[in-house]
Amino acid sequence: MECGKIEPERVNTRILSASEVSEAAEILKNGGTVAFPTETVYGLGANALSESAVKRIFKAKGRPSDNPLIVHIADIEEVERLAEEIPPAARLLMNEFWSGPLTIILKRKSVVPDVVTAGLDTVGIRMPSEPLARELIRLAGVPVAAPSANISGRPSPTTAAHVIDDMDGRADAILCGGDCGVGVESTVIDMSADVPTILRPGGISASRIEAVIGEVRSGRGLSESEAPKSPGMKYRHYAPRARVVIYGDPSEVRGENVGVMAFESHTAEFEGMPLVSLGSTPQDAARRLFKGLRELDKLGVDVIFAPQIPDGDDWAAVRNRLYKSAGGI
Ligand code: TXA
Ligand code: MG
Repeated sequence: MECGKIEPERVNTRILSASEVSEAAEILKNGGTVAFPTETVYGLGANALSESAVKRIFKAKGRPSDNPLIVHIADIEEVERLAEEIPPAARLLMNEFWSGPLTIILKRKSVVPDVVTAGLDTVGIRMPSEPLARELIRLAGVPVAAPSANISGRPSPTTAAHVIDDMDGRADAILCGGDCGVGVESTVIDMSADVPTILRPGGISASRIEAVIGEVRSGRGLSESEAPKSPGMKYRHYAPRARVVIYGDPSEVRGENVGVMAFESHTAEFEGMPLVSLGSTPQDAARRLFKGLRELDKLGVDVIFAPQIPDGDDWAAVRNRLYKSAGGI
């Protein structure tokens, strides 16, 4: 996206292009917040070692303080600075999947402030593969705490335009890059306990992890494959303004002012309606899900109908995000 085009309308947030990454790093060094692209979703970063800088992230997002942040690093060796104990299996995962969409939870060192970990004795660490993210972290010279750069509860941003929609006036700067290739957040695996446990399905599937370290446990609810038939439960996460309703069969899609998400093979059945295709593969759907929810929201629909997601490990991340956006799990 061309950042220059939108700059004049922006008052409180600096919009920086990739060539201005050193200015973005300077803002991080000075205790400010910078939204930046990663291969999964855009993150909202601050110096992870500064309590006051990290507090500004929570404020900008409106995030509850009991939800810990992931710390991003640019080189594998930096993990030693943050983590107390690195079990051999965690090492195997780092060697196999870093840089990339895997967050590893380890026992933390005391250098990591409580505000990052929400007081837990563990810290989530990830080394993103997006080169611009790593350049930013390297130039800042500090580990960067970063949740997704959305207002708390909304779908995560996968384009610079999404970030501007949510973070204009809230972040100190937005570093613009391209669209995120993965489209859903990293897989979070807890390697601090006796049995490795996947806490959040994401960019790396459980079976790919099991191929490296053997059997892992999946956290509560994550393997659930039953679609919620009606949304509107209390818990909202990844949620657009519109109500999200899961359909099993296209004939269930009806009503006024509704939008539809559909797999490519079904798009013809919804001709004439506001429609977003989820493509055909888990990778397509991951890339299009959050973007599609935001697009349909912009059209002002009241309800977004989205399809039931297939069972199976390779669909786990999309299933988890979509059903949560429908208020399901
Ligand atoms: O792909 C991603 O992971 C993106 C990009 C920006 O890197 N980040 C991201 O951050 O999704 P966030 O804050 O939206 O999600 C972090 C997740 C939360 O579910 C949080 O509870 C969990 O990681 N988490 C972080 N630290 C943890 C810890 N010490 N123990 C357990 N869960 C942790
Ligand atoms: Mg998030």
